[in-house]
Amino acid sequence: MTAALALCDLRVRFPVGDGLVSAVDGVSLRVEPGEIVGLVGESGCGKSTLAAAVMGLLPPSTSVTGSVRVAGDEVVGLDDRRLRAMRGDRVSMVVQDPSTSLDPIWSVGDQVAETIRAHRRVGRRQARALATQLMTDVGIPAAASRYDDPPHRLSGGMRQRIVIAAALANEPSLLIADEPTTALDVTIQAQILGLIRRLRDDRGTAVLLITHDLGVVAQVCDRVAVMYAGQLVEVAGAQELFDHPRHPYTRALLGALPSATARGERLAVIPGQVPDLAHQPRGCRFAARCPLRTDVCEQAPVPEPVGASMAACWHVDQPLPLLGGAR
Ligand SMILES: Nc1ncnc2c1ncn2[C@@H]1O[C@H](COP(=O)(O)OP(=O)(O)OP(=O)(O)O)[C@@H](O)[C@H]1O
Ligand SMILES: [Mg+2]
Repeated sequence: MTAALALCDLRVRFPVGDGLVSAVDGVSLRVEPGEIVGLVGESGCGKSTLAAAVMGLLPPSTSVTGSVRVAGDEVVGLDDRRLRAMRGDRVSMVVQDPSTSLDPIWSVGDQVAETIRAHRRVGRRQARALATQLMTDVGIPAAASRYDDPPHRLSGGMRQRIVIAAALANEPSLLIADEPTTALDVTIQAQILGLIRRLRDDRGTAVLLITHDLGVVAQVCDRVAVMYAGQLVEVAGAQELFDHPRHPYTRALLGALPSATARGERLAVIPGQVPDLAHQPRGCRFAARCPLRTDVCEQAPVPEPVGASMAACWHVDQPLPLLGGAR
């Protein structure tokens, strides 16, 4: 089966001063059609950069190597015209803050309709009807009467639904959602997550869901990829990850939570800091913060695959001695 998204040894480097910031460093990951994969990790570990690489939205000076395939088609190296044709058609992205995605003076309905017209030959009236239907689908009550409203007349949750409606307008095979519910209260968050799950169920859309929130992961994700300092350290089924986290970083993230599945819980704070991405340590990047580190950690760990799962650590599954409460 062709993956909805297949990353192979993806590397993204930003030129900064006279050095390079290596924000994504050798990431390989598949998202199958109809699968919801969570991407978690501390702030600055490269999650949004990875998403931008998939969307072809990185600044031109950025070095991108490796492969990004969306439904089998290579994205790395595509020219702007082809990238634009791909975006909003086969792959769409929803970002955290709907106010950055919506034009403040246009009506919300027209913004959804315009996305449809950018990729399909439909007349204005038909686009309006399709957009109204999409707004209804994402749970905007009395959508026809809200169509002509500018964004500021809608609540934050409603605006986020409009952004999602626009993202879904052309039935993309892949939806990338970068912290789509972080700005929303818990009730609206549950509705948006329900919507994402329904999308997958009804349309078979694959979703890469970027989040800080383990409660969100527990509620909707089939699999989870844990990112640390530009690299994936563990990939596993969501249930498996919560029940048996294998990498010390994952175990520290989960172990400090009173309940890993409690809604609204944030990733735990782990002593120490993510290494400076411009000056990465040679071996395991988590070693400086890891209670299990030994001399072997000065060499980069070889990812240990177990079925569709993976953990990149020399000391996978060893008990954690120091972190109080960690499993
Ligand atoms: N255009 C850019 N130029 C230089 N460095 C960048 C650029 N974009 C991102 N970075 C750096 O890349 C690293 C990864 O950033 P990124 O935004 O991908 O992290 P993130 O995991 O999404 O964090 P957060 O959880 O806070 O959203 C950071 O060190 C960031 O400063
Ligand atoms: Mg981000």
